Amino acid sequence: MKETSSSQSGVRVTYDAFAERYDAAIRPCERLFLARLREKTIRALPLNGRLLEVGAGTGLNFSYLPSSTRGVASELSREMIRHALLKERPHAVSLVQANIEALPFPDEHFDAALSTLLFCSVASPQKSFSELRRVVRRDGAVVMLEHVRPSGLLGSVFDLLNLVTVPLCEDHFNRRTTQEASRAGFQIQSIERRILGIFNIIVLKRV
Ligand SMILES: C[S@@+](CC[C@H](N)C(=O)[O-])C[C@H]1O[C@@H](n2cnc3c(N)ncnc32)[C@H](O)[C@@H]1O
Repeated sequence: MKETSSSQSGVRVTYDAFAERYDAAIRPCERLFLARLREKTIRALPLNGRLLEVGAGTGLNFSYLPSSTRGVASELSREMIRHALLKERPHAVSLVQANIEALPFPDEHFDAALSTLLFCSVASPQKSFSELRRVVRRDGAVVMLEHVRPSGLLGSVFDLLNLVTVPLCEDHFNRRTTQEASRAGFQIQSIERRILGIFNIIVLKRV
């Protein structure tokens, strides 16, 4: 796997160390709202074609994917992958270690891509979107569930939180992910803002 920056290794080290506790740590949010949002996000994916999941983590999306799904689930951290391997996934979905900023796939190889809770932790949103643009075919879809900087006063609170969360756990609390996608040349098809606008389901078209 190609390494591109020291912040990437920082993210990898963070998630290697966190992998064992990740599912338990996120479980309360899953029960309260995340599971429902994951299900809804995955329902927005096209039914046919080859799917690329990026930053698949411990595989918490696998159980929501239709059993007919085919494609690749990719993830940076070896330890997160080790936990993902323990979960059941559609038989035609392979699991590989890959950095979203340097994906090991040919141009326009996928019909759609999925990311959940990934863009808060990537080192460069622009490099990440540029790679997604390269590997997803023209008119293909990118469907995302991401936590983002909310608007209004809460946005300023998230700017302050960001000062702590980045050094602590490589988590960018004030990412403007939709704007980054638009800047990278994606067409915004829809944005569904949930939980005070903090969690967004974003559907992009690769033009
Ligand atoms: C908050 S977790 C989300 C995991 C999973 N998508 C979920 O919804 O539970 C963020 C994941 O993104 C992965 N990640 C961070 N930077 C990455 C990169 N450059 N390439 C691929 N995966 C990355 C981390 O290793 C981690 O597993």
